[in-house]
Amino acid sequence: MDKRIDINMKYANKFYRYMKNDSSIEEFMEKFHVSFNELKGILELCRMYGKNVDVIEQQGTLVFKKSLPKSVISKKPDLNQKDLICTEILVVSDTHFGNIHQQLHLLNKVYLEAYKRGIKLVLHCGDLVDGTYPNRPENPRQQFLHGFDEQVGYVVDMYPKLRGITTKYILGSHDETHYKNDQATVSEWVSRCRKDMAFLGQDHAVIDLNGVKIFMDHPGGGSAQSVSYKLQKRIEILEPDFKPKIMLIGHYHKSYSFVYRNVRGIEVPCFCGKTQFQQKQGLSNIIGAYFLTIYSDKKGNIQYFEPEEVLFKPNDLWDEADKDKNKVKQLVRR
Ligand SMILES: [Fe+2]
Ligand SMILES: [Fe+2]
Repeated sequence: MDKRIDINMKYANKFYRYMKNDSSIEEFMEKFHVSFNELKGILELCRMYGKNVDVIEQQGTLVFKKSLPKSVISKKPDLNQKDLICTEILVVSDTHFGNIHQQLHLLNKVYLEAYKRGIKLVLHCGDLVDGTYPNRPENPRQQFLHGFDEQVGYVVDMYPKLRGITTKYILGSHDETHYKNDQATVSEWVSRCRKDMAFLGQDHAVIDLNGVKIFMDHPGGGSAQSVSYKLQKRIEILEPDFKPKIMLIGHYHKSYSFVYRNVRGIEVPCFCGKTQFQQKQGLSNIIGAYFLTIYSDKKGNIQYFEPEEVLFKPNDLWDEADKDKNKVKQLVRR
């Protein structure tokens, strides 16, 4: 076995021992002199070795919560021997086209990578466009595209179009503002004009990928301080008979993955830089996507699951007004 993995395992075991149930993460961070982001990495490491530990909010304090280990990441199965089906997809969310902080050039990067990998399906978890908010006077200044026609026209003209790739999407809270204001539905025109973009539903949809049930969700409301809290709550309210194997959540502009109630939950990051609203509210904003590799059996049970998080650094962002709008061309492969 690779020596590096041995060392990782050693540290995962060590850190895990100090993560007592209901103990504060602040104490842990202080003890090991780690930042919150470093703690997220440690939690990820623990999960890689089957140590399922999460951070939840309890009476205003962020604490550790352990649950029984799940076989989340097991040894990669041998496809020939086990007769498993391998599915690879890209998951994106919250592109907010029309916002001055949109990052279309980064969306193009992950689509190009998906194309190179031979991926055929991309799932988009909502908020394709930035929407219209008549009761927010600052809103027009935050956008370079105003109203339904401009924003939806931009999706039709600019959304990546790569031979062999279909994007299946749900609509989110920002998309819905067009319906609330003008009874105009984003999907109506996007899917009419783009045969490679299939609409699944407003706010949520269930899809079946080679027998694996996936629930796509775009909730409303604000974020919690704890990254995992909202995702955990969304999984908690799922009826036992309805539980999917994978749950993908947009809207929060965060990045997180964990297993809870035997559901593999992914909080999907966004493709829009931090807005004035987020800055004022002190909210974090994560830009990136997930490549998912799923090995499932004939009954649709997942035997191996690998969520590959792709995150972009602040240097990758084009936050100067108009740069993304003016410099980016539509990514097309015919
Ligand atoms: Fe959003
Ligand atoms: Fe949203």
